[in-house]
Amino acid sequence: MKKLIIANWKCNPKTLAEAKRLFNNVKKTKAVICPPFVYLTEFNYKFLGAQNCHWEESGPYTGEVSPKMLKDLGVKYVIIGHSERRTYFYETDETINKKLKAALGAGLIPVLCIGEKKGEDANLVVENQLSHDLNGISEKDRDKIIIAYEPVWAIGTGDFCSKNKAKEVLEFIKRKFNNKILYGGSVNSKITRDYTEAGFDGLLVGGASLDVKEFINIVKNV
Ligand code: PGA
Repeated sequence: MKKLIIANWKCNPKTLAEAKRLFNNVKKTKAVICPPFVYLTEFNYKFLGAQNCHWEESGPYTGEVSPKMLKDLGVKYVIIGHSERRTYFYETDETINKKLKAALGAGLIPVLCIGEKKGEDANLVVENQLSHDLNGISEKDRDKIIIAYEPVWAIGTGDFCSKNKAKEVLEFIKRKFNNKILYGGSVNSKITRDYTEAGFDGLLVGGASLDVKEFINIVKNV
C-alpha cells in the first residue's frame, strides 16, 4: 500500500512569497500539504489540507473557518486535535469530537492527532482520547478518519519515539481500529523507514516539511 505523507507547515512560512517557493519545490512529491489558512487559495493542488476547522458551518464565530468553506476551496484533508491546538488553544476532546463530525459532514478527510505527554502511559492516553474524540461517530464514518499517533514529547523536540515503542502503540490502536494510522513527532529522512517498517501507513511531518531537501528525502525513503 502506498504510504501517506502529510506536511504540517504550522504557522510557517512568514510570507506568501516564501510559501509559494516552498510549495513549488515540494508539489512534485504529491504529499498532502497543510499550509496556514491564508495560503490555501494560492495553491491549485489536489492534495491540500487545512490545520484546523470550526464545528459550525457559518455564523457569529469571529476568527473561525468552517469545514464547508474549506471544502468549497477544494481542500481535501483537515488536521484535527493537534497537540498544539489542545495545549495552546485549549481544545478539548469534546470540541475535537464536534470538529470531526463537522469535517466528515462536509466531506473532508479528518486527520485526528492523538498522543501522550511525557511520563504518561501512551496506551491509556490514546485509548481515552479515541473513545472521547470518536464518540457518536458511526463506524462507516469513523473508518474515513486518519489517525496520527504523535507523542507530544516528540513533537518539535528532535526526541523521536523509538521504532519499537511506536510499534507497541500502533498495535494497541490496531486492536480496535481499522483506520489508516500515521506516526508524527520529529520525523526526519534518516528515521522515516523505521515507522513504515513498524507498520505505520505514513507520516505526519512538521519541522522537516519546511526543508525542501529533507522533505523530498522523507518522501523518497518511505
Ligand atoms: P515535528 O511536528 O515533525 O516538527 O515534530 C510534527 C507535528 O506537529 O505534526
